[in-house]
Amino acid sequence: MRLTVCRLADLPAHQGYLVEVAGEAIALFRVGDEVHAVENGCPHRGGPLAFGDLRGGTVFCPLHAWGFDVRTGRCDEFPEASLRTFAVHVEGDEVQIEL
Ligand code: FES
Repeated sequence: MRLTVCRLADLPAHQGYLVEVAGEAIALFRVGDEVHAVENGCPHRGGPLAFGDLRGGTVFCPLHAWGFDVRTGRCDEFPEASLRTFAVHVEGDEVQIEL
Protein backbone atom coordinates (compact mmCIF):
# COMPACT_ATOMS: atom_id res chain seq x y z
CA MET A 1 0.00 0.00 0.00
CA ARG A 2 1.34 3.45 -0.97
CA LEU A 3 0.47 6.54 1.04
CA THR A 4 1.16 10.13 -0.02
CA VAL A 5 2.94 11.80 2.89
CA CYS A 6 4.15 15.17 1.56
CA ARG A 7 5.21 17.10 -1.52
CA LEU A 8 8.72 17.06 -2.95
CA ALA A 9 9.07 20.80 -2.26
CA ASP A 10 8.45 20.16 1.46
CA LEU A 11 11.80 18.39 1.81
CA PRO A 12 14.64 20.66 2.98
CA ALA A 13 18.12 20.39 1.48
CA HIS A 14 20.24 19.58 4.53
CA GLN A 15 17.80 18.06 6.99
CA GLY A 16 15.08 15.49 7.09
CA TYR A 17 11.32 15.85 7.16
CA LEU A 18 9.26 14.09 9.78
CA VAL A 19 6.03 12.35 8.89
CA GLU A 20 3.83 10.00 10.84
CA VAL A 21 2.35 7.08 8.97
CA ALA A 22 0.11 4.49 10.60
CA GLY A 23 1.43 5.52 14.01
CA GLU A 24 5.06 5.25 12.94
CA ALA A 25 7.45 8.24 12.91
CA ILE A 26 9.41 8.23 9.64
CA ALA A 27 12.20 10.58 8.54
CA LEU A 28 12.36 11.50 4.85
CA PHE A 29 15.54 12.74 3.21
CA ARG A 30 16.20 14.17 -0.21
CA VAL A 31 19.56 13.12 -1.69
CA GLY A 32 20.02 14.55 -5.17
CA ASP A 33 17.00 13.48 -7.18
CA GLU A 34 16.13 10.64 -4.81
CA VAL A 35 14.06 10.51 -1.64
CA HIS A 36 14.77 8.01 1.11
CA ALA A 37 12.87 7.07 4.25
CA VAL A 38 14.08 5.57 7.51
CA GLU A 39 12.66 5.15 10.99
CA ASN A 40 12.96 8.44 12.87
CA GLY A 41 14.14 7.10 16.21
CA CYS A 42 17.90 6.61 16.54
CA PRO A 43 18.70 3.08 17.80
CA HIS A 44 21.20 4.53 20.30
CA ARG A 45 18.90 6.57 22.56
CA GLY A 46 16.00 7.57 20.38
CA GLY A 47 17.31 10.85 18.94
CA PRO A 48 15.04 12.32 16.24
CA LEU A 49 16.97 11.67 13.03
CA ALA A 50 14.68 13.92 10.95
CA PHE A 51 16.31 16.86 12.78
CA GLY A 52 19.90 15.77 12.27
CA ASP A 53 22.29 17.28 9.74
CA LEU A 54 22.24 15.63 6.32
CA ARG A 55 25.60 15.59 4.54
CA GLY A 56 25.71 13.71 1.29
CA GLY A 57 23.70 10.59 1.94
CA THR A 58 24.48 10.51 5.66
CA VAL A 59 22.36 11.91 8.47
CA PHE A 60 24.03 12.66 11.80
CA CYS A 61 21.89 12.10 14.88
CA PRO A 62 21.26 15.42 16.68
CA LEU A 63 22.00 13.88 20.09
CA HIS A 64 25.36 12.09 19.79
CA ALA A 65 26.18 12.39 16.09
CA TRP A 66 26.11 8.76 15.04
CA GLY A 67 26.02 8.73 11.24
CA PHE A 68 23.51 6.70 9.22
CA ASP A 69 23.38 6.20 5.47
CA VAL A 70 19.79 7.16 4.67
CA ARG A 71 19.87 5.01 1.51
CA THR A 72 20.62 1.76 3.34
CA GLY A 73 19.94 2.56 7.01
CA ARG A 74 23.46 1.44 7.87
CA CYS A 75 25.32 3.05 10.77
CA ASP A 76 28.94 3.70 9.84
CA GLU A 77 30.31 3.53 13.40
CA PHE A 78 28.17 0.64 14.64
CA PRO A 79 27.02 -1.56 11.75
CA GLU A 80 24.82 -3.64 14.07
CA ALA A 81 22.69 -0.53 14.76
CA SER A 82 20.95 -0.30 11.41
CA LEU A 83 17.77 1.61 10.74
CA ARG A 84 14.62 0.22 9.21
CA THR A 85 14.12 1.65 5.73
CA PHE A 86 10.96 2.19 3.71
CA ALA A 87 10.44 2.19 -0.05
CA VAL A 88 9.67 5.67 -1.43
CA HIS A 89 8.03 6.58 -4.72
CA VAL A 90 7.85 10.05 -6.21
CA GLU A 91 4.80 10.60 -8.43
CA GLY A 92 4.96 14.09 -9.91
CA ASP A 93 5.46 16.24 -6.82
CA GLU A 94 3.91 13.73 -4.43
CA VAL A 95 6.13 11.70 -2.13
CA GLN A 96 4.66 8.30 -1.33
CA ILE A 97 5.77 5.72 1.19
CA GLU A 98 5.11 2.05 0.70
CA LEU A 99 3.98 0.16 3.78
S1 FES B 1 20.62 9.05 20.34
FE1 FES B 1 21.42 9.04 18.33
S2 FES B 1 23.56 8.93 18.57
FE2 FES B 1 22.78 8.89 20.60
